[in-house]
Amino acid sequence: MTVRFKEDSNHLTLYTKESSYQMQIDDHGVLLHTWYGAKIDDRASHLIELRDRGFSSNPPDLVPDRTYSLDFLPQEIACLGNGDLRDFALDVAWENGTHALDLRVVNYSWEDKAPDWGVLPHFWSDKDHTLCITLKDREKDLYVHLYYTVYYEYDLITRSLSVENRTDETIVLHKAASASVDFPTQDWTLLHFAGRHNKERARQDYEVQQGRFKIYSSRGVSSHQHNPTVILKGPDATEDFGPCYGFALVYSGGFDITCEGDQYGQTRLVMGLDSQNFSWPLEPCQSFQTPELAMTYSGQGMGKMSRDFHKAVREHLIRSPWQNRPRPIVVNNWEATYFDFTGEKLLEIVDVAREIGLDMFVLDDGWFGARDWDDRALGDWQVNEKKLGMPLRDLVKEVNKRGLEFGLWVEPEMINKDSDLFRAHPDWALTVPGRQPLSSREQLILDITNPEARRHVTDEILKVMAEAENVRYVKWDMNRSVLDTYLAGADRKSQGMYRHLYVLAMYEMTQTLLDAYPDLLLEGCSGGGGRFDLGMLYFVPQIWTSDNTDASDRVEIQYGTSFFYPPSAISAHVSAVPNHQNHRTTPLKSRGIVAYQGSFGYELDLTRLSEEEIAEMKDQVKTYRGLAELVLQGDYYRLTNPFSGEAYTAWSTVDPAGKKAILSVYYHDLKSNYPNPILRFKGLLANSLYELSLDGQVLGKFLGQTLMEVGFRSAYPEENYQAFLYQVTLCE
Ligand code: GLA
Repeated sequence: MTVRFKEDSNHLTLYTKESSYQMQIDDHGVLLHTWYGAKIDDRASHLIELRDRGFSSNPPDLVPDRTYSLDFLPQEIACLGNGDLRDFALDVAWENGTHALDLRVVNYSWEDKAPDWGVLPHFWSDKDHTLCITLKDREKDLYVHLYYTVYYEYDLITRSLSVENRTDETIVLHKAASASVDFPTQDWTLLHFAGRHNKERARQDYEVQQGRFKIYSSRGVSSHQHNPTVILKGPDATEDFGPCYGFALVYSGGFDITCEGDQYGQTRLVMGLDSQNFSWPLEPCQSFQTPELAMTYSGQGMGKMSRDFHKAVREHLIRSPWQNRPRPIVVNNWEATYFDFTGEKLLEIVDVAREIGLDMFVLDDGWFGARDWDDRALGDWQVNEKKLGMPLRDLVKEVNKRGLEFGLWVEPEMINKDSDLFRAHPDWALTVPGRQPLSSREQLILDITNPEARRHVTDEILKVMAEAENVRYVKWDMNRSVLDTYLAGADRKSQGMYRHLYVLAMYEMTQTLLDAYPDLLLEGCSGGGGRFDLGMLYFVPQIWTSDNTDASDRVEIQYGTSFFYPPSAISAHVSAVPNHQNHRTTPLKSRGIVAYQGSFGYELDLTRLSEEEIAEMKDQVKTYRGLAELVLQGDYYRLTNPFSGEAYTAWSTVDPAGKKAILSVYYHDLKSNYPNPILRFKGLLANSLYELSLDGQVLGKFLGQTLMEVGFRSAYPEENYQAFLYQVTLCE
C-alpha cells in the first residue's frame, strides 16, 4: 500500500513518491515544521534546537523557560505577533487595532476529498488525499485551517489555508499568504523569473543570505515583471543532480514571494497574494480562503522538478478537453494587418493558409465597434460589419468553406473612454472617486466586480459568439494593470478587498464562457505573457507566451517559461522578418524550430510570401504535425541555458516510452572559429539502438547510451541565427 500520510508520536508526515514533508505538534500545541525534502522513514525533529538566545522572546505560557522562542523555531505557518520576527504568512488585526496571533493545534484529519474552493483555481483529482490541520488562537476563537493535498506520483503537494472568524468581533486580515515554508539551512540559490513586456520570465539567480528578498506583482495580474514561481536550488544542484524545490502559486492576480535568510542560518519562504494591496475584513462567522500553492521536491535537479510540474499541470490542473488533443495550427492576423483589414483581405490570408495546410484562422483585435486603433471602442462588443464587409457569421462561413476553423480575440475586462459603453456607463470604468483614472494604452479597467457590468460584457460577447455560430477558439486578452481600485459602496475597511475580488470576477467570467462553450479552445493572453500562471491554466490550456515573436528572444522566454509550464501551454507563432519587435532577421527554418517548442502557429501576412516560403511552410506544417504529440505530451529537457553566454541553446523532448525524441539547437550571434558543439540527448533507453537524423537524412545508428554519454557534434551554422532539429527513433 502506498503510504501518503503517517502519524507517529505527534509527527505528521506526508509522503509523495520521492519526498517527505513533516511537521511536529510540540508539547505546547505549536505546529513546527521539521522536514521537507528527500523521502525519510524517520522523524527529523532532532534538528530542532532550543537555546536561550538574546533578544528572542518566549511565549507567556512557557515562562520561565528561556530556551523556547518562535523567533528561531521552524514554523509551519508563520504569524505576526507571536514573537517570531521573521517574515510572516498571517497578519490579523483585531477590532481594537492590535495585531497578534498565537496559533496552537486543535485537531487534524486526513480526508479523501479536497475542500471546496469555489471559483478559485486548484489542482484536482478523482481522489484527493488531503490533510487538514486546524489551529486556534490561544486567546480568541479565531481558527486557521491548513490544507495539504498529496499528488503522490508527481511528487507534488498543494497547500492553502482558510481563516475562520468564530469570535464576535470584526477582524481585518492584513496578510493571508498561502503558505510559509522554513528550511534549516541557508546555502540556497533562489531562481526567479523576471522581465518586462516583450521580455518575460528571464531566469535570475539570487544567493540567499541574511535579509529579505522579495519578488512581487502589485499590478493586479501575475505580471510580465515577475512570475509567481520560484525555485530553491541546493548549492551544487544542476538540471540533473541535487536537491531543489519548485513553488508556484495557482493564482492570476498580484502576489508576494519573499525569501528570508534569518540570523541563525535558516531560510523562510512566504508565498501568497499581494499583501501591499490587500486587507480583508472578516465578520463573525465569515471565512477567507487563500489561493493554492503547488510545491515539489526533486532530488535529481531542476529537470525532474520541471517534468513533475509539467505532468501534474497537464493531468491535474488544466481541465480543458483540449489538453489531450492536437492543437489546431493557427494563423493570427495581428502582426499581419494590425487594425487595418477588411473581410476580403482576411479571406486572402485564409486562402494562402489553406494552401499551406493550416487549421484555423484567428481574427485578432479590431473587429468590433469603431476599433480602428487601440485608443477606442473596448467595451463595444458589436461586430463592425462595415469594416468586414459582411456579418461575422458570413466571414466564419467563408473561412469554414476554405477548410479552416475560426477563432476570435476579445478583451472583456477593459473599457475605452472613447466607447459607446463608456458614454452610456461612465461609472463602470474603475476610478477612485474625486480623481482622474490612470490611463494605459488609453484604456481603463472595466469594473468587473460590479455584477451588472460583468454580466453586460459577458452577455455581449456570448451574443457575438452565438450569432457567428461557429467560433471554436477565443483569445482572451488583458492589456493593462489593475489600478485606481475602488470598491463602490463599500466602507474604508473593505477597500483592500478590491484586487482579489477582481481576480475572482475574472475567473467567474471565464467560467461563464466555458459553461456556454465547453469545447471552446480558450487561449489566455495579457500583452503576451503578462498573466502566464497556474491560475489561468485551470481555465485555459494555452497562453500567448509573449508579444515578442523574435526567434532569438523567444528561445530565452520559452526557456524561462519551461521551468514550471508544460510546452503544450506555450503558444508560439512564426512571424515575419525583420521582426516587428526588435527588427532582427532570422531564417524561416529557425523561426519554425523555435515555435515547434509549444502550441504552434503563424502570425504574419501570408499573402506577401514568396513561393519558396510557402513551400517551406508547407513542410513546417507537415513536420509539426508529425511532432505535435511528442512536443505536447513528451518529457521536456533543457540542455543548455541561453543566459550562460554560450553561442547556442539546445533543448529536447523525449517520448515517455523512449521510442523517439527530438533535439533542437539554436545558434545566437555567430562567433568566429567556434567549435561545433557536442550535443547529448537525455532520457533515452541506454541499451537500445536509435537512428539519428537531421532533415530526413540519416546520420547513423547509435546506442542510447552513446547519444546520452558521448553525444554527437552539431552541424555548423552557415548563417546567423540558424537552428537544427535532430530526431532519433528507436530501431525495430
Ligand atoms: C496584445 C496581445 C497581442 C494582440 C494585441 C491586440 O498586445 O498580446 O497578441 O492581440 O493585444 O491589441
